[in-house]
Amino acid sequence: MFKIVSIPGDGIGPEVVASAIRVINTLARQHGLEITIEEHLFGGASYDVHGEMLTQETLEACRKCDAVLLGAVGGPKWENLPHEKKPEAALLGIRKELGLFANFRPAKVYDALVNASSLKPEILAGTDFMVIRELTGGIYFGEPRGYDDTRGWNTMVYEHYEVERIARLAFDAAMKRKKQLVSIDKANVLESSQFWRNIVHEVHKDFPEVELIDMYVDNAAMQIVRDPKQFDVIVTKNLFGDILSDISGMITGSLGMLPSASIGSSHALYEPIHGSAPDIAGQNKANPIATIASAAMMFEHSFCMKNVADEIYSAIEKTLASGFRTADIANPEDTIVSTTEMTDAIVANL
Ligand code: NAI
Ligand code: MG
Repeated sequence: MFKIVSIPGDGIGPEVVASAIRVINTLARQHGLEITIEEHLFGGASYDVHGEMLTQETLEACRKCDAVLLGAVGGPKWENLPHEKKPEAALLGIRKELGLFANFRPAKVYDALVNASSLKPEILAGTDFMVIRELTGGIYFGEPRGYDDTRGWNTMVYEHYEVERIARLAFDAAMKRKKQLVSIDKANVLESSQFWRNIVHEVHKDFPEVELIDMYVDNAAMQIVRDPKQFDVIVTKNLFGDILSDISGMITGSLGMLPSASIGSSHALYEPIHGSAPDIAGQNKANPIATIASAAMMFEHSFCMKNVADEIYSAIEKTLASGFRTADIANPEDTIVSTTEMTDAIVANL
């Protein structure tokens, strides 16, 4: 028995979350799983009703469930609110409140879309790796921070336990894949990176089967574009991971294809990488695959059902192979399908 809280949010959020829920319900039926899904307001949708982007009620519901499924938040309507009332603040707030310290972002190339990337198909084909980014520490949160008329400053600081827990998670992930872990830092320049590296090596002693490779972040940026197939699992700090996970995602195709999981010691949240896409909201045009693939990550990480996750991935693969394309992944000669048509096809292929 699993309990999911869905917070569809704004713009295309409700459209793509509805697609993912159809997939989840179909699989629950097929596998005889008891899954309940409870919907709550979040983001602008919540602000318009309660004057708050993240209410205590939504937060409590997220705390009590097995997994949270988020669409996206934000839009022009709420753009001019003060900083602490903005959707971005609510997103950071929910991650912090749920203690989601690790962000998983797969960079996986679907065979049918190997021509959709800016990279050559022969460099890309077969790429399938996972970027694990530390999400609640490092320079985005370090004190002191600020600026005055003459100086601006931030602090890159990590506590021992923060590095250790993400390193463990990353070695665990590597054990379930090809047993290779690349840890990315800037230890040639930054002491905080040498600290990171030392701890990753300490933790490595508990995972002797995993091959550990240290890489400097500037080299890593080059290597991801030069030969993405060399990677299996990457683990890195908040700042480096922010940048590298975007590069890794984009080499594999469109924003509309990219899922993510944010994991803590007792909570997990799944969401597409993209935003609320106000330009296409309410038009049944959004690509639902990023959110459907986020549901696949939920089955794998929160419900420990990798077999079900794989069924979702192969239904996506099959649907793409038979030519279904939403506008964001279509070539000029393709017929474009709607959000619901794409979802119908994926559900039919389950
Ligand atoms: P965006 O990701 O919403 O859209 C960028 C472009 O990609 C747009 O042209 C959009 O139509 C397209 N796109 C995005 N997702 C798509 C999908 N599933 N299918 C087809 N096309 C898709 O980013 P943008 O425009 O910078 O931000 C729009 C709003 O979303 C802002 O209010 C921003 O703050 C918010 N946002 C929220 C995020 C979240 O909730 N995690 C993340 C990023 C932005
Ligand atoms: Mg980013």
